[in-house]
Amino acid sequence: MAFPIQRPRRLRRDASMRRLVRETELQANDLVLPLFVRAGVKKLRKEVVSMPGVFQLSPDEVERECAGAREDGVTSFIFFGLPEEKDATGSGAWAQDGAVQQGLQAARKALGAEATLVADVCLCEYTDHGHCGILEDKGTHVTVKNDPTLPLLAKAAVSLAQAGADVIAPSDMMDGRVAAIRKALDEAGLEDRPILSYAVKYASGFYGPFRDAADSAPKKGDRATYQMDPANAREALREAKLDIEEGADMVMVKPALAYLDIIRRVREEVLVPVAAYNVSGEYAMVKAAAQRGWIDEQRVAHEMLLSIKRAGADIILTYFARDAAKRLK
Ligand code: PBG
Repeated sequence: MAFPIQRPRRLRRDASMRRLVRETELQANDLVLPLFVRAGVKKLRKEVVSMPGVFQLSPDEVERECAGAREDGVTSFIFFGLPEEKDATGSGAWAQDGAVQQGLQAARKALGAEATLVADVCLCEYTDHGHCGILEDKGTHVTVKNDPTLPLLAKAAVSLAQAGADVIAPSDMMDGRVAAIRKALDEAGLEDRPILSYAVKYASGFYGPFRDAADSAPKKGDRATYQMDPANAREALREAKLDIEEGADMVMVKPALAYLDIIRRVREEVLVPVAAYNVSGEYAMVKAAAQRGWIDEQRVAHEMLLSIKRAGADIILTYFARDAAKRLK
């Protein structure tokens, strides 16, 4: 039975009807806003050139930003740090008065308990070479030593949890880091803190603007020996399952838009909540086109976030979080 009996347009006649049959609904509760905290400064609110509307913030400004974001309806945040000084091992990642440690405390002051503060755990923002772990120069190429990096990540995770992080989110892509972090958190009496693992993280060109924001571009070589090959989908399922076996409470797919198929497949294979990171390059493309008047920013941003949710993500990390939450109110 088809046309003229079947007329799908009957269910699109007006806005109320369309809302009634809508399959996917975006909510402010789904969104996590990334924040960049710079240590050792005050009253800093410096816009990232390649990410209009995104700022490097001093801890006092983090407090203001969080209060404003909450007004808009955002209650979850993920923190990245810019340390005063970098070194070979990235010791700023576990400094007691480190950038994110201070940012977490400032955010807590503004938000109280009714907020979810996620701490990204990685070393690339803190190492002088810009890689996500202990560097190994092989002459022909540079790579990162896996096992010696694990205790450093664990140390950073404990320090961030002690500073008030509700969720620990390792983004380094070392093998075995979820287990190492889980063990260290438990030994420190932090067994109640969940791990959101960047389980499926591709070696992507879409991270370009983030590396300006976080000053974390590798000085030499790239991240292809630890981040995933964009050509691989089965490997994503393997990564997600391994991280869950190691103790991940939630898994992330990153980037989001060029990987909607991966979000869908991971969603179908695992039982834990799935997050997706609508990354800096995805944000910058929309902003750049909108600035030229080539697309309608709000409409396109909403459509993007909806597509990520429709693909199966429960949680979306996005620089559009404040605007989107405001619109959804
Ligand atoms: C750190 C990290 C990166 C992002 C999140 N955590 C960059 C990278 O791997 O180089 C990217 C986020 C974005 O592009 O918005 N390892």
